[in-house]
Amino acid sequence: MTTKILVTFASPGGATAGVAAAIGQKLASAGAEVDVRSINEVTDLSAYQAFIIGSAIHGGRWMPEAMAFIERHHDILQQMPTAVFQVCMMLATHNEQYKKLVPGWFAPIRSQIRPVAEGSFSGALQPGKYPKLIEKLGLRIFLAAIKLKAGDYRDWDAIRTWTDSVSPLLISKGDNG
Ligand SMILES: Cc1cc2nc3c(=O)[nH]c(=O)nc-3n(C[C@H](O)[C@H](O)[C@H](O)COP(=O)(O)O)c2cc1C
Repeated sequence: MTTKILVTFASPGGATAGVAAAIGQKLASAGAEVDVRSINEVTDLSAYQAFIIGSAIHGGRWMPEAMAFIERHHDILQQMPTAVFQVCMMLATHNEQYKKLVPGWFAPIRSQIRPVAEGSFSGALQPGKYPKLIEKLGLRIFLAAIKLKAGDYRDWDAIRTWTDSVSPLLISKGDNG
């Protein structure tokens, strides 16, 4: 039986959704059966034998809807192979102190489930896309503080390489496609 994999994501600004789509495409091109869905659309996990869950980082944390999803489904996610990834801007900087913070953002996830793999990727941030003036200003200040220009810093090669490394951990050994 082919392993069916759910790639699900929380992505207020759309960058994490793009990462999830790239992960889904890579898994599918390797022969897996994959659904890529917003975390807000997923209620039933029974069709899947493996999971990849991703979230944007806001304020050093996963999005609340992604945390709620993991809490709600943690029984299933503990039993099935589950990989997690996060998308943030600190990784796009050249500041090693900032980068050291990034793995710690998985701690609340690790207290709920035992992921078979963790991936951290640089994301994208365009303050002008956010509707409220206060958000635009706050995000410009954030970018200035971490000395980064607005833009898309997603590293598609890194995302595909991680997906290749994760794929055998998700697809069961007896699965011959
Ligand atoms: C309100 C807000 C807070 C953010 N806080 C952080 C942060 O604490 N650390 C970080 O590295 N990136 C932070 N970012 C950058 C996002 O993680 C990055 O832009 C990511 O690609 C957003 O993904 P999305 O487009 O899927 O929402 C923040 C972005 C926003 C909009």
